[in-house]
Amino acid sequence: MSSKVLASAFVAFGAAFLGGCGRSKAAPSGRQVYLDYGCAACHGMSGDGRGMQSRAMTPPPTNFRDVASYRHGADSGSLRRAILLGIREESSRMPSFEHLAPEELDALVSYLSSLQTAHNE
Ligand code: HEC
Repeated sequence: MSSKVLASAFVAFGAAFLGGCGRSKAAPSGRQVYLDYGCAACHGMSGDGRGMQSRAMTPPPTNFRDVASYRHGADSGSLRRAILLGIREESSRMPSFEHLAPEELDALVSYLSSLQTAHNE
């Protein structure tokens, strides 16, 4: 009886493990999402805020590599909000990306966070 319980526990663990692997393989890369949605046109290929469309924008596109450049918060909650809703302030050109899939948004937020750390190390 108890070995049967143990065996089914192993099966359940195995399924959860495999399921987890499947999910992480399917998760989009943040950099890919960044390029797919054209963030680079304004924020630059490397996230430095110097995209082709960035000239003459006031305020300028955020340099994601410089924490001091974030005007709306550099923490993941603020990033999430800015991407989903856009920045609705006078003259800001940051559009909203409200149709992103949750995993695309997650990937973007961790990509931008990784750029901040890369800069600070
Ligand atoms: C048309 C140009 C444009 C595009 C495209 C664009 N952005 Fe922006 N973004 C801006 C500008 C300009 C700002 C600064 C706005 C401000 O400070 O009011 C900004 C600000 C932000 C912020 C807020 C950061 C802060 O200052 O606190 C985030 C996060 C962000 N953008 C992420 C993205 C992501 C991710 C994408 C692609 C999915 C993207 N942006 C596409 C122009 C753009």
